[in-house]
Amino acid sequence: MPELASREHLRAIVPVVRAALAEAGIALGDLDAIAVTAGPGLAGALLVGITYAKALAFAQGLPLIAVNHLEGHIHAVLLQELETEPQVLRLPFSALRVAQDDSHEEDESALALVVSGGHTHLYRARQERGAWSYRLMGRTVDDAAGEAFDKVAKLLGFGYPGGPWIDALARFGNPHAVSFAFAQIKTKAHLVGKVPRTKAAKTAPIADLDPRFMFSFSGIKTAVLRYVELHELRDEARARATRLLAPGVEARPPQSKEEALALCPQQVLDLVASFQCAVVGDLMKKSFAAAESLGARRILVTGGVAANRELRARFSAEAARRGVRVDFPTLALSTDNAAMIAAAAWPRFLAGEFAADSLSADPSLALGR
Ligand code: KG4
Ligand code: ZN
Repeated sequence: MPELASREHLRAIVPVVRAALAEAGIALGDLDAIAVTAGPGLAGALLVGITYAKALAFAQGLPLIAVNHLEGHIHAVLLQELETEPQVLRLPFSALRVAQDDSHEEDESALALVVSGGHTHLYRARQERGAWSYRLMGRTVDDAAGEAFDKVAKLLGFGYPGGPWIDALARFGNPHAVSFAFAQIKTKAHLVGKVPRTKAAKTAPIADLDPRFMFSFSGIKTAVLRYVELHELRDEARARATRLLAPGVEARPPQSKEEALALCPQQVLDLVASFQCAVVGDLMKKSFAAAESLGARRILVTGGVAANRELRARFSAEAARRGVRVDFPTLALSTDNAAMIAAAAWPRFLAGEFAADSLSADPSLALGR
């Protein structure tokens, strides 16, 4: 609901910035720069942020830095590293500049998977002399993985966001009970160079991407729907939705098998476990194949779906088996947040890459080329 989202941004932005400053124990005068998301996202929400950031930067005489939301997700993983090296963070600003320059020589490429409610994108991420560059390697041709989690959860009578529900329920089901298959995506010659129409796919045209690294999650959602209809689970799901989504009910994902079974039959737990297992398997297969094609020794997984426990466990196990490194943000930094935007702005700040006064929202801003 774009209208509602922009109004909420307008209502929240001043109190949120005040709270963040208070929590950090600093004032506006202590800041070095203001970073803001330029896109992709909802135009109205982006405009609220950009207008506020511009006003703040102007009033404080600070530089303004434009950040791509997807680059923010990637930097949430790297921010994590800085946090685990607190001695770097405690240095005065000028020393930090030197520390950053020293510690990152010519790094080799990493494979980044950004997997959220709006994106399922694979990038080659590379740092050279402190500056990051990205190349899109693959993405979804229809729904994002998070969107599939949300739609399947909704179909089964659970609330939004659906990912945490599926994550919690899947632990108590048999992941091999229902078999889901992913078709191999084929590049259609007539689509090359065309801007796709789906929300998830808008940020980049299909042109020249390797079909091995393309995703499609609308089919599995339909397959779950068919299963629900075939096994007459519809009424049961509706009754659950009425219970869980009733006003005043504060429903939370189950913590034990008993709680899970009190919510839904074993058949639904098995369905959910099989769905999650299939989606995670597909994300893994394509991410590791893309990393291998790059010769990348490092994989960064980020975005809301990176909070998923099965995804973390299986990516970590596969990475260990292959002798590559995989990193995730903390759970709090996996879903959308402002700290990741500041983290992505940091190398731009060091390089003096500031936004022009004419900066405006770009709802379909692409990352890299
Ligand atoms: O990155 P994010 O907060 O917002 C977007 O930019 O989309 O991601 C939100 C998405 C939602 O689709 C939500 O269902 C999914 O991330 N999500 C999860 C989990 N936690 C959040 N999906 C699977 N497992 C989770 N634990
Ligand atoms: Zn996001």
